[in-house]
Amino acid sequence: KGCKLVGCGSAVPTLQISNDDLSKMVDTSDEWISVRTGIRRRRVLSGRDNLIALGVDASRKALEMANVDPDDLDLILMCTSTPEDLFGSAPQIQKQLGCKANPLAYDITAACSGFVLGLISAACHIRGGGFRNVLVIGADALSRYVDWTDRGSCILFGDAAGAVLVQACDTEEDGLFGFDLHSDGSGQRHLNASIKEHETNTALDSNGSVLDFPPRKSSYSFIQMNGKEVFRFAVRCVPQSIESALQKAGLPASSIDWLLLHQANQRIIDAVAARLEVPSERVISNLANYGNTSAASIPLALDEAVRSGKVKAGQTIAAAGFGAGLTWGSAIIRW
Ligand code: ACO
Repeated sequence: KGCKLVGCGSAVPTLQISNDDLSKMVDTSDEWISVRTGIRRRRVLSGRDNLIALGVDASRKALEMANVDPDDLDLILMCTSTPEDLFGSAPQIQKQLGCKANPLAYDITAACSGFVLGLISAACHIRGGGFRNVLVIGADALSRYVDWTDRGSCILFGDAAGAVLVQACDTEEDGLFGFDLHSDGSGQRHLNASIKEHETNTALDSNGSVLDFPPRKSSYSFIQMNGKEVFRFAVRCVPQSIESALQKAGLPASSIDWLLLHQANQRIIDAVAARLEVPSERVISNLANYGNTSAASIPLALDEAVRSGKVKAGQTIAAAGFGAGLTWGSAIIRW
């Protein structure tokens, strides 16, 4: 059985923060940020915005493009590391889309590799599980975990959601040619937002005696990042991963119409493109406007490229995600 991408959509919050705005908050400048990262502005959740609403908005656009009714969805995969609910956000998206048949909906947590993993998972569900219409959403709000006093990291991130509809098809129409996925937990120290246990005040039992085991309180820490190590990891692992996915697909690098990497840093994108000898005209980049939107970055950039007419039907895209975990992976897809 084959599977193909039949629709895409995206949504971003309305609040925009420019590099100049950031330079009023921390000791930085538009020049430093744009030269080192390529980022000029980012969108950030504010007021009553929330990630589920963004995910629903992006999903509706993808369903509309695919001409598929929410009732015909068999599965919803919400790729996010910043869920609205620790127990999972996907069922809330399912509810708000109004899917009457109660299709399975669950979250996938793999930071900036989440969307690629979601895409591969959708393909596996279709090929092995009899599913027909699978909605894959990449959505993150890292702004919630950014230390806005840390100039080394707060300049990088933005919030967004993107979605694609993956549909079962005949083998000859197959649009997912090859993939490659990895993780390396030993690199977690370079990029994380770990759980923190807090000391609690002495707690008393109902008789007023001091409890031996007072209840614990915990919360997630801000994003901790060693930028240089993450940079080195990305430039080393991503080209290898794309080459491996191409090899599995039986395709040469010259068959790539578009290189679509997780939008983390323009210098990472340029270095990977140079290593794969993909010319800059065939590289998709929109991080100047949105920064690093984690799991949302690939479907957001894909959606913009499709709707602007840049990516055309039948073209081959090498997509790759990389980030916390550490995790990384690639998929060779046909639009
Ligand atoms: N403005 C001005 N100066 C700054 C800023 C800033 N925003 N941030 C750091 N500096 C200073 C540093 O203090 C340092 O000063 P010093 O030389 O006096 O000590 C100097 O600039 C150089 O700092 P570096 O950290 O060495 O800068 P680098 O060239 O490595 O760029 C950056 C930093 C942009 C973070 C880069 O390392 C990078 O992009 N790495 C990849 C990060 C990434 O992609 N992370 C997301 C992964 S995806 C995920 O899963 C979430």
